[in-house]
Amino acid sequence: MKHYAVFQMPETINYGRRAFQTIGKEASLRGRRALVISDPVMDKLGYVNEGRKYLTESNMESVVYSGVESEPTDVYVTEALQLFRTKQCDVVISLGGGSCIDTAKAVAVLASNEGYIGDYRGGKKTVNVKPAPHLAVPTTAGTGSEATDVTVITNTTDDVKMMIKQPAFMPDVAIVDPALTLSSPKHVTAATGIDALSHAIEAYVSKKSHPMADSMALSAMNLIVQHLKTAYREGDNLDAREAMSLAAMQAGIAFSNASVCLVHGMSRPIGALFHVPHGYSNAMLLPAVLEFSRKEAVDRLADVGRIFSPGGLSSNEQAADHAVSSVKELCRELHIPNLKEWGIDKQEFESVISKMSADAWDSGSPASNPRVPTLYEMEELYRVCYDYDFSQMSPVVRNRG
Ligand SMILES: NC(=O)c1ccc[n+]([C@@H]2O[C@H](COP(=O)([O-])OP(=O)(O)OC[C@H]3O[C@@H](n4cnc5c(N)ncnc54)[C@H](O)[C@@H]3O)[C@@H](O)[C@H]2O)c1
Ligand SMILES: [Fe+2]
Repeated sequence: MKHYAVFQMPETINYGRRAFQTIGKEASLRGRRALVISDPVMDKLGYVNEGRKYLTESNMESVVYSGVESEPTDVYVTEALQLFRTKQCDVVISLGGGSCIDTAKAVAVLASNEGYIGDYRGGKKTVNVKPAPHLAVPTTAGTGSEATDVTVITNTTDDVKMMIKQPAFMPDVAIVDPALTLSSPKHVTAATGIDALSHAIEAYVSKKSHPMADSMALSAMNLIVQHLKTAYREGDNLDAREAMSLAAMQAGIAFSNASVCLVHGMSRPIGALFHVPHGYSNAMLLPAVLEFSRKEAVDRLADVGRIFSPGGLSSNEQAADHAVSSVKELCRELHIPNLKEWGIDKQEFESVISKMSADAWDSGSPASNPRVPTLYEMEELYRVCYDYDFSQMSPVVRNRG
């Protein structure tokens, strides 16, 4: 745990039912012509037109880029940035899941700073000119990207999902309206919900955890444990959706100010090479990585276990085990597949395990894990997760732990 930290979040957060309607007012405080970065699903559902209506009511002009068709690549960033420049926009609005928000973060920074987005990875280049104002409107309850200083963009040249973190990537305004998540299909609700849970748990067990981030992580875990299953089963339950939107944002604030760890480090290469959606690739790894980390994080995991079952868990050892088994049970209830069930060919997977482990390590996230793995241990974990059984304690990892 760190004993000193600078805590950051968006300068304005409009959270709650009908928050979406404030988009025009917030944008007009910051510019005159907005580039709305979204995806075809948001367009089809009418969210893009609704947003533009609120913008027009506040005398804002708007231009739309709805080309974000999957988890973002540098190609989407280039296309959207070109539109921002040719249409002389001065505000960026992201409307969609983490994919749209991350694309917009890159565009906002590159609108006023030079170079390729990957140049900003690992602090090689720092953002020194204030980015274009960015208003983020999430439509999933998962990434928390609306309140993080991280963007994740795939480099299409070497198939690396780049995690790029600098304060300048933090959106200026987060507009979090749970009603926008009501249309989220079951598989997206499951994947994004586990992503939020992974953020909260990883921030809480991280070597970079600190009390300010802990409070956000604990609140997020409580909300997720109470409401994710309901949001999954009853997609139209606004109370459950509202709790999940809050939890996702809090979990985002937690990890952005602490860190994510081994799950996210190992998850990004799976996303880059096999196009498994981010939440699923986390869920496929989370229980096994918790088993791997358990010994070095008993007390913290015990707190997680007691969130799943308040009372009745006398020892921390017992409560930490309960955390792991409860996460597995949640994965089962949300019908999370393992990598084999997802349809990934075993030989193909085996052939890239060493690249994935190296890429995971290079991201820096595994170094924040309570138990820092060797490259060999990451390779073994990938093998364990390939055909992981969510109904049992994995003997391979357990024995090594
Ligand atoms: N920057 C960060 O802090 C951060 C944190 C975690 C993950 N990420 C990144 O975010 C991306 C994943 O974002 P995501 O999980 O939100 O998924 P997503 O944005 O890729 O969306 C997944 C699918 O759900 C659809 N969808 C989204 N909202 C919907 C709604 N309300 N109704 C119907 N359909 C809807 C989208 O159109 C898309 O088809 C990944 O690239 C991941 O790496 C970023
Ligand atoms: Fe994530």
